[in-house]
Order: sequence, then C-alpha cells, then structure tokens
Amino acid sequence: MPHWTQEFADYLDQHHHEHPGVTEEVLRRSLAGHHTPYSWLARAVSSRALTVLDIGCGSGAMSRDLARPGRVVIGLDLSTTELLQAARRGPGPWLRADARHLPLGDESVDAVVSTLGLAVIHPLAAWLDEVHRVLKPGGLLAALTPTFGPLSPADTRVAMQLLRTLRMKPVFPVGIELASRQVLAESGLRKIEDNRERYRFVVRSRADADLLLSALYLPGIEPRRLDRAGAWLARRVASEGEVAVPIPMRRLVAMKPVS
Ligand SMILES: C[S@@+](CC[C@H](N)C(=O)[O-])C[C@H]1O[C@@H](n2cnc3c(N)ncnc32)[C@H](O)[C@@H]1O
Repeated sequence: MPHWTQEFADYLDQHHHEHPGVTEEVLRRSLAGHHTPYSWLARAVSSRALTVLDIGCGSGAMSRDLARPGRVVIGLDLSTTELLQAARRGPGPWLRADARHLPLGDESVDAVVSTLGLAVIHPLAAWLDEVHRVLKPGGLLAALTPTFGPLSPADTRVAMQLLRTLRMKPVFPVGIELASRQVLAESGLRKIEDNRERYRFVVRSRADADLLLSALYLPGIEPRRLDRAGAWLARRVASEGEVAVPIPMRRLVAMKPVS
C-alpha cells in the first residue's frame, strides 16, 4: 500500500478505532532513565504558555501531562474512538478535527505540541502552515517524531531481528528523518532545537510483546507474521527474562518568528 492514499487514511482510522490508547500505553512504558517521551516533550513547553494545542492527541496523554491551573490544553484528533478514551481520562477540551484545517483563530495559541504527528499527518506542509497560522508570534511548536538512532549495538540487534521476523518495517506516511530545518522554514517556522534520545520498551511477557506489536502501523501484514514476531519475543523473554526494544525519538522545537 503506498504510504499516503485514501486507503492508508482508512487504515489509520481503523487502526485507532481497534486499538485506542495503544500508543499511550507503549510510550508511557518507554523509558530513558526515569523519563518517558511525554515528559521530555513537556519540558519544551514554557510555563507561560497558557493556551496549548496538542495535535493528533490520541488518548490525550500529552494534553493531560501539560494541564496546569490557568492553562487550557486543547486535544485535537481525527479519531472519535481515541477522543472518547481521552475524554474518559481528562477534562479536555477535546476537539474532533483535521490538523490540516484547524478550527481555531489566527494567532490564538501560545504553543503547539504533537507526539508522532510529524511522521503521521500528511501532507506535512498543510498542517505546519496551519500551526504557523494559529501560533502567536514568538509561540513554539514542540514535536516528537520517531528516528533511527541513537542505537547501541545491542539495540540494533534487537531491532533488526524484530524487523526480520515481521518481514516489514512499520509505516509512517510522512516518513522519518525529515529535513526539518527546510520543512519548518517552508511554513515560516524557525527551528531552534533538534535532539535525539533512545527510549526502551521492556518486554517481559507475551502480553507485552502483543501490546508493542499492536501499536505499530503494519498495513496488510499477515497475522502469522505478527504471531511469529510475538512468539520470537516471548522465546527471548523465556531465555533472558526480558527484552528491551529500542524506541529512538527526536524532539524538534521551532518558533514562529515575532515578525
Ligand atoms: C501515533 S498516534 C499518536 C497519538 C498521541 N499523540 C500519543 O502519543 O498517544 C497518531 C494520532 O494522529 C491522529 N491523526 C492522524 N491524522 C490526523 C489528522 N489529519 N488530523 C488530526 N489527527 C490525526 C490519529 O488519529 C492518531 O490518534
């Protein structure tokens, strides 16, 4: 399946309908030291940001982590099922809308955050233009996106073996390792930070393996491949006690220039 077609959009919608909250479940348990990707992203948002928009909020993990007295965090997503999960877990406001057509006024928010939106929401330029429009001058976009590294030799071995048993790489419609400075500049945003961190999701049971695998975008994968990958992880757990699966992430921060 090509990486961006209506068919892929339907796959995304179905995936999030069948597995609402699964990204949050995996990322909450993905650690670098004591930090999760969400706590890393939250550190990029100033305490002075009183209106924050979380694009592609899913079940609302980031929106809840950013909630503070006096701050409004708007969680926005296309998936009704994800938003229902979000509404069960936090006060919102939760907005069902398309990131490519934000139902918000010009220069109305202090900060925009997105966990994985940069890799998933296509076409990138359409929603980055919208981010630029709704941000106040001097406002920040802070986003987490998957990346290839840093990986230790042991991380690389686990990742390669897992991909070999799946015989497929997870699909991100926008792709990863985007040329961020240029892409952001084309929407009028100035990159001010680009860092990488490696998180690890520790698999200790077959249930953990199945949870991790269910979070991946693997359109059209044969069920027996998923089963093989789950069985392979479970066998390693049986022999080694646990398997740490690397989840490398990139944190990009960009500013809307003041004029
Ligand atoms: C990988 S999930 C990340 C969810 C959440 N940020 C998290 O970390 O748990 C990507 C989310 O982007 C949403 N999404 C995809 N295309 C979208 C669009 N055009 N507008 C708004 N949300 C979209 C999906 O419904 C999904 O919830």
